[in-house]
Amino acid sequence: MPATVTVGLQWGDEGKGKIIDFLAEHADVVVRFQGGANAGHTVQVGEEIYKFHLLPSGVLRKRTLNVIGNGVVVEPGQLLQEIEEVRSRGHPATNLRISDRAHVVMPYHKTIDGLEEKLKGGLGAGTTMRGIGPCFEDKVGRFGVRMADLVDPDVLRAKLEKVVPIKRRIIEALGGSDVLDLEALVAQHAEYGDRLRPFVTDTSVLLDRQLARGKRVLFEGAQGTHLCIDHGIYPFGTSSQCVAGAASVGAGVGPRHLTEILGVAKAFTSRVGAGPFPTELEGDVATHLREKGGGEYGTTTRRPRRVGWLDLPMLRMSVRVNGLTGLAVTKLDVLGGLEKVRVATHYRRDGETIREFPASMRVLGECEPAYRDFKGWPELSEDAWIGIARKGRRGLPEAVRRYLAFLEAQLKVPVKIASVGRSRAATMALRA
Ligand code: GDP
Ligand code: IMO
Ligand code: MG
Repeated sequence: MPATVTVGLQWGDEGKGKIIDFLAEHADVVVRFQGGANAGHTVQVGEEIYKFHLLPSGVLRKRTLNVIGNGVVVEPGQLLQEIEEVRSRGHPATNLRISDRAHVVMPYHKTIDGLEEKLKGGLGAGTTMRGIGPCFEDKVGRFGVRMADLVDPDVLRAKLEKVVPIKRRIIEALGGSDVLDLEALVAQHAEYGDRLRPFVTDTSVLLDRQLARGKRVLFEGAQGTHLCIDHGIYPFGTSSQCVAGAASVGAGVGPRHLTEILGVAKAFTSRVGAGPFPTELEGDVATHLREKGGGEYGTTTRRPRRVGWLDLPMLRMSVRVNGLTGLAVTKLDVLGGLEKVRVATHYRRDGETIREFPASMRVLGECEPAYRDFKGWPELSEDAWIGIARKGRRGLPEAVRRYLAFLEAQLKVPVKIASVGRSRAATMALRA
């Protein structure tokens, strides 16, 4: 802090929501700056579990302002449902602001997402079907509807009258049968606009004022570096930029404000969706990683996540493209109970050593990981881990300390936070 960007370093689901909620205790503002309802961020407070897709993960902290920046694509029905849900569970959710420049995910984006995935065959990423790709396509193609349009019924109607006939032709050409009722779309979205109007504002101006007053702002990344449209495993990633630099563009805040860049990594690797995965595991160890500590199932789609060992070529790239100043390592508890823990230090391909993550999916698919093995640590109860979290780095089992020290030496970034369970209390700030 004052302005900290938190980003995922792998293929999403690193535990960003949990880390944001932890850091939000000392934040004045939490800002989402990219992605959309494809994100699924879990926050656990006591026994209560919350899953946020569009709401920033600071929304449970009463004194924290939560902002959805211009870089996010907003599905209004989904957002209203999330607001209703947190309200029904006793949180007012009045501490929310939405950028008037954020794009709106329309029902036809979801229809086209499904049709395109089917047609893409082996090039499909296995999307979340939230209409993310088609919405970003419309943003860049300048067919998009923005929040400023959603809250202005005349502009909304005028835009949809132009865009809907084009979408009808596209859906038909893609083999779809959805005919799109213009009047129903206008009416439903005008109503969404009415309900969301109180939250919509120029959030760049708002953030500029907050920063000028010395307020502490936390930028919440969604997805992860290796899903980024520029730096991720193209074409199997998502359609937004997921790296720290995107916080500046996606929130309307100059890059000089971004002083701390915290990367969140799981202590192993997981992936929900298609594409090469060099350290992927099958068998008993995979079952252990998938089933322990709450389970590895997609927060948005409930699909079982593919799992594998930690991959340093992936993380080295993430450290570089984000310019990390610190690491948060999650799910250390999940590795507990394994005899040995492995980390891929580099890849081998055709007798050659590869240390940097390749751009070509063909090359990546042919990479064989080379491992360094570590002694495992015991499987402990959540209460035991919470007890350890209270003590800090010295309380950690020696094998865990060695594992973290190895990561710090390899990546040349300090581990500032370690997470050893799902709940808020199972989180520890570490001193070097
Ligand atoms: P995000 O998308 O990065 O916010 O991560 P998700 O919420 O999709 O997935 C992370 C999952 O791991 C959630 O179910 C969290 O409750 C859980 N989680 C986060 N940190 C830890 C941890 O240190 N240990 C365990 N066992 N679970 C964790
Ligand atoms: P959080 O923020 C994990 C994956 C999808 C698919 C690809 C493209 O919870 O970490 P999309 O719907 O974005 O067009 O899908 O990206 N994906 C995620 N995987 N966590 C996420 O978000 C993801 N968001 C998208 O599975 O392979
Ligand atoms: Mg997730």
